[in-house]
Amino acid sequence: MEIISFLAIFLLFFVLLLSLFASWWFISMLIPIFLKGGPFVPTNWQRVEQMIRIAHITPQDHVIDLGSGDGRILLAALQAGAKKAEGYEIHRGLVSLSRWMAKKKKLENRLTIYCRSFWKADLKNCDVIFLYQLPLSMKLLKEKILKEAKPSARIVSNGFCLPDWIPQQKEGDIYLYQVPQKEN
Ligand SMILES: C[S@@+](CC[C@H](N)C(=O)[O-])C[C@H]1O[C@@H](n2cnc3c(N)ncnc32)[C@H](O)[C@@H]1O
Repeated sequence: MEIISFLAIFLLFFVLLLSLFASWWFISMLIPIFLKGGPFVPTNWQRVEQMIRIAHITPQDHVIDLGSGDGRILLAALQAGAKKAEGYEIHRGLVSLSRWMAKKKKLENRLTIYCRSFWKADLKNCDVIFLYQLPLSMKLLKEKILKEAKPSARIVSNGFCLPDWIPQQKEGDIYLYQVPQKEN
């Protein structure tokens, strides 16, 4: 009898913990909506490969993902030879997950994930910017990129285009852009 009540209490405690974790995860998923960003929908692996190919990663490249999710694109870019990768991600659980994945793949020395809004990201030194955000933030992202990123930086956007900017390349709904030279 004692064992049964012990098991019942243990099970109850476990379910409570699980539902607390699930609620925290779910509420964190809603935060991006208030920060003009999209919720976590990971890019599928086939598209990750496609985006890395389109980006033409070189060993000199410093790559950045604005809303890096579980870090899969950044890790793939490092595996493709990028020098350094940086992610901005607002969901603390995803930040921890990407740092853990980087450790597992022994790439942690070349990866930095900031748990902060990508609107605060410093774009001036990056060579490649990865995006997978909602159309409502694409206009503002375009303005930020054009203002801050260096000429010739490449942008690879999954799913949605940057408005009024003709892509250099388009494969389905993956778009490649290049920041133009600044006019004097
Ligand atoms: C569609 S997911 C893309 C994830 C990842 N880049 C990928 O392709 O697998 C968008 C991500 O952006 C994050 N996000 C949305 N708004 C953000 C903001 N303002 N600052 C930082 N991250 C944000 C979300 O938490 C989510 O993980």
